[in-house]
Amino acid sequence: MAESPYTRDNPLRIGVLISGGGSNLQSLLDHCASGFIPGRISLVISNQADAFGLERARRFGVPTKVVPHSDYPDRLSFDRALISLLNDAQIELVCLAGFMRILTGDFVKFFKGRLLNIHPSLLPSFPGLHVQQKALDAGVRFSGATVHYVDEDVDTGPIIIQAVVPILPDDDASTLSARILKQEHRIYPQAVRLFAQNRLQLTDGKVHILESKINQEDYLLNPPWEG
Ligand code: GRF
Repeated sequence: MAESPYTRDNPLRIGVLISGGGSNLQSLLDHCASGFIPGRISLVISNQADAFGLERARRFGVPTKVVPHSDYPDRLSFDRALISLLNDAQIELVCLAGFMRILTGDFVKFFKGRLLNIHPSLLPSFPGLHVQQKALDAGVRFSGATVHYVDEDVDTGPIIIQAVVPILPDDDASTLSARILKQEHRIYPQAVRLFAQNRLQLTDGKVHILESKINQEDYLLNPPWEG
């Protein structure tokens, strides 16, 4: 069994960085409250004062900070302000959840191995922005979502968990986004739970998950098998 120091009485202290609606933050809040994640969201930081995610955090009694990036002369000083807030709150794991700023190498190094991101595509396909439209334009039959460790590049770090969704003939970027988002709300809490349970082993840039049973017969076809 993987040994984890975290329990409901001694929860993993999680910091979440957002810029917008915060539906992934909501899912993390819900899954901490239910006990699925042996953790507590101890701080939510937004670079946008009007991010609805801030309201979601306040409803759960979670401390929030607004750190407008435009108040800082450069990326490094902005990131240093974030590091100091996260440090003061004794944050052990940082989750990016729709945080629309690229972090500096300094920030990434500081939280190396304890910094996660969620991205609405099956990485390494379609990194960056507007990825649902890019998947539609490419004509792929499946898309999905990825939770990964953050490294110094954008959307490239070691992958923890992925969810696959079919692309339907009349999808547009918004219907596809909604289908993907639904799965994001399942896989982000699961990734954080695996982290808190100490079941993620990083070796040579790849994540090995301890004590996880995978069904070898699982497969998906789109369009379906007609034989
Ligand atoms: C999600 O699609 C996430 O994958 C991406 O930004 C979006 C954030 O949505 N990084 P929300 O703010 O969590 O609702």
